Amino acid sequence: MIKKVTVNTLQKIKDSGEHFSMLTAYDYSTAKYIDEAGVDMILVGDSLAMVILGYDATYKIGMEEMTIFTKAVARGVNRAMVVADMPFMSYHIDVPSAVTNACNLIKCGANAVKIEGYSDHIVEVVKRCSESGVPVIAHLGFTPQFLNSLGGYTIQGKSADATYAILEQAKALQNAGAFIILLEMVPEESAKYITENLKVPTISCGAGRYCTGQVIVSDDMLGKYSDFKPKFVRRYADLKSVIYDAAKRYDEDVKSGAFPSDDEVYKQEELRQLYVNS
Ligand code: KIV
Repeated sequence: MIKKVTVNTLQKIKDSGEHFSMLTAYDYSTAKYIDEAGVDMILVGDSLAMVILGYDATYKIGMEEMTIFTKAVARGVNRAMVVADMPFMSYHIDVPSAVTNACNLIKCGANAVKIEGYSDHIVEVVKRCSESGVPVIAHLGFTPQFLNSLGGYTIQGKSADATYAILEQAKALQNAGAFIILLEMVPEESAKYITENLKVPTISCGAGRYCTGQVIVSDDMLGKYSDFKPKFVRRYADLKSVIYDAAKRYDEDVKSGAFPSDDEVYKQEELRQLYVNS
């Protein structure tokens, strides 16, 4: 019997000083293999806008796409906690529409949602979602949906004051009910300080070694997405070459007549005799 990863599992890991793993996934089979490998959390990140759909920023997708990909991932997962990103504009307008969108992602099979940024409005959204039975991960530091306001891919929390400011935001979100704080592109000393001063676990996305968990985009770590590689990504595979080499060999085999072979076709005996006898 598979034991599902829950909010309690992750809090226990934080309390015992251990670490958990998270990877993104956007489709059924990748999610299935990542789950079978023992990764604790699977994020249907809005990074899918870039690595799957080819947009140049994550804020270019909406709820429609997120629901399709969340359903596909949830169908492949048994053990890991499935987290769906709340896309740009899905929680900014007002609290009721934010809660409705979060609940829809849960109905699609997510076990939790992730919300980027900090403001009084976002704290209220986190509170109302948590009260409605939707566990929320609050995403601070570099928040890609705010790319235009942040002015580029910039490291956040670089000074002590900036670190204290992120910690204050994290505490407000924790008090509103966020069960994890995700820190993106934050120096590891800052992330360590924030982690040590929170009750809930933290997840690092380029925030060093001292957070409770780690997340990276699977297409980056598998070497499939090659438009750019952030400093904090470690490549565990070279899927770009695997796909290129396989496609090249297939193309050659089709054009030379080597594919399909006799073993790879269906037979029709009557007509076969016709050709044999002629
Ligand atoms: O969308 C995403 O994949 C993310 C991670 C990079 C944290 O938000």
